[in-house]
Amino acid sequence: MISSVRVGRGLLDRPVWTRVLGKKVCVVTEPEAHRRFGKRLLAALERQGTSAALHLLPSGEAAKTLAAASKVYGTLADSGIGRDSGLVALGGGAVTDTAGFAAATWLRGIPWISVPTTLLGQVDSGLGGKVGVNLKEGKNLVGAFHQPKTVVCDLAALDSLPLREVISGLGEAVKYGLVFDRRFFDRMRRDWDRLLALDPVALAPVVRRCAAEKLRVVAKDERETSGLREHLNFGHTVGHALEAEAGYGVLRHGEAVVWGMRAALALSLMKTGLPRADALDAGRFLASIPVPRPEVNPDRLVLRMYRDKKVRGGVLRFVLLRGIGRPVVEPVTAKEARDCLEVLT
Ligand SMILES: NC(=O)c1ccc[n+]([C@@H]2O[C@H](COP(=O)([O-])OP(=O)(O)OC[C@H]3O[C@@H](n4cnc5c(N)ncnc54)[C@H](O)[C@@H]3O)[C@@H](O)[C@H]2O)c1
Ligand SMILES: [Zn+2]
Repeated sequence: MISSVRVGRGLLDRPVWTRVLGKKVCVVTEPEAHRRFGKRLLAALERQGTSAALHLLPSGEAAKTLAAASKVYGTLADSGIGRDSGLVALGGGAVTDTAGFAAATWLRGIPWISVPTTLLGQVDSGLGGKVGVNLKEGKNLVGAFHQPKTVVCDLAALDSLPLREVISGLGEAVKYGLVFDRRFFDRMRRDWDRLLALDPVALAPVVRRCAAEKLRVVAKDERETSGLREHLNFGHTVGHALEAEAGYGVLRHGEAVVWGMRAALALSLMKTGLPRADALDAGRFLASIPVPRPEVNPDRLVLRMYRDKKVRGGVLRFVLLRGIGRPVVEPVTAKEARDCLEVLT
């Protein structure tokens, strides 16, 4: 079952969308999102006659532990949440990953709704049903595929996001244009300043398009078996390695993906016949996005890339572009991977 998505302003104040979960829900959030939106959501739920328990996770990546998930089970048990009720995850990717994981595993799976409140969440991490937590051995090592019934993107929630979080989300959004649709990429580039300012007229179609694009791909390849979902991984071989090597929390996810896309464009130019004008043009645009330059050792970064989930038989595989909107997955040697990191210097 693949989710539906709602995008609009003020959706948190009229939570009729929880009705698919029945008359009882548990809202799982974290202190910042609770202060800004959770209290309002709980009041609105009460007004519509839905009984709601509340569970607060720690902020940020600290939410993504088995211990934190286990405390969610405690609240679900105490408030009598069963398969005839459900969970509402309200917050950034850390909350939707952990709360979604609790929903996937409590009573072997209960219905849930994802309510991403970061731009990254609304274009990527809050959609697609990949849920999970970290172990000390690595990120996202324990998890499940468990689709939310619906994904609710309240654009008004983004008004309070710091600029850096906005850039991180837009970085991820640019990926959809480069991988699937040149016109969408061109439109984002044209509207860039309005997007940075969260102009609703420019932003709403971008969130709507990215969310629809992600759900379209997930519907065709829910469990990453056919290879189609891999295309969403453009920029992520280098991006994930950079996030880990810089130390989690140093780079935002979308910032690391911007660097990763620059490296993948450089590789595409070398390997797949991506026209030079397109590589330079897209590369220049990505270079104009203000993201911090991480201090990392390129050789260690290449070693990290070998932990990527796309590695097969010890060979690196990258999502590259034959053209803007024309993705392809190609084997890449360690030397080629090292060479494309020139963009970082
Ligand atoms: N499941 C997936 O498919 C997927 C994909 C990409 C990333 N992720 C995961 O997502 C996580 C990162 O998510 P994120 O970037 O949303 O970060 P996050 O969840 O850590 O949130 C970032 C910060 O923003 C704050 N915040 C949330 N909403 C806000 C708002 N509207 N206004 C002001 N502040 C707000 C939070 O309190 C937090 O401090 C990582 O754990 C990553 O592994 C998952
Ligand atoms: Zn991503």
